[in-house]
Amino acid sequence: MVAHDTALPSTDLHHPLFSRFYAGVSRWMEAQGMAELRTELLAGLTGRVVEIGAGNGRNFAHYPSTVTEVLAVEPEPYLRTLAARAATTAPIPVTVVAGRAEQLPLPDRSADAAVLCLVLCSLPDRPAALTEARRVLRASGTLRFLEHTIAATPGLRVVQRAADATLWPRFAGGCHTATDPAAVIREAGFEITQLRPVRFPVTRWFTQPGTPHVLGRAAKLR
Ligand SMILES: C[S@@+](CC[C@H](N)C(=O)[O-])C[C@H]1O[C@@H](n2cnc3c(N)ncnc32)[C@H](O)[C@@H]1O
Repeated sequence: MVAHDTALPSTDLHHPLFSRFYAGVSRWMEAQGMAELRTELLAGLTGRVVEIGAGNGRNFAHYPSTVTEVLAVEPEPYLRTLAARAATTAPIPVTVVAGRAEQLPLPDRSADAAVLCLVLCSLPDRPAALTEARRVLRASGTLRFLEHTIAATPGLRVVQRAADATLWPRFAGGCHTATDPAAVIREAGFEITQLRPVRFPVTRWFTQPGTPHVLGRAAKLR
């Protein structure tokens, strides 16, 4: 329940329109089933957790009581302010700090878990972010992720690539939907131990580029 906002201008990423849009839409997402997915994402975590790209702190309420501390790293100043506010009512101690996935403000092997939730899609250098996550995790550490993924069907892949090449990243804070987080996680030196395809939003009658997701767990390879 600790909330520190130690903004370091050099790590800030300003997305004034997207951050305000996301703060609103994330409330709707919770009601559409994202709350349950967040609980599943974080279930069973213990010890010290680093949450990378914590946004406005929607995950905080879903951490189990076995987590002793969350260091929430967020580069967008408006979202970071909201996250610091959310930290004050979290069921476990959360410290919100400025920083980027590509250069985490943590020593080597200092975290029991790293959490990536709807973040990899926005990163220009996903391998660098995963190398950092690997660096800060202990040998027994776990990576939890819930991310957009490339569609299973060729038709939707075409739509995703068209969206990624045009308007989608502009309106969604740099998000690209035709990414393969599971592949990037494996290539960065993790073994995926659980992987579940997830439709979000869950509606069956409408599929859009951002619908396919994967929810999973990964362990550090030696
Ligand atoms: C779609 S939001 C998801 C926020 C939050 N993880 C959640 O589950 O609601 C994407 C987040 O990634 C953050 N982000 C973008 N680039 C980043 C980077 N280089 N390092 C860390 N976070 C980044 C954004 O500021 C934003 O908070």
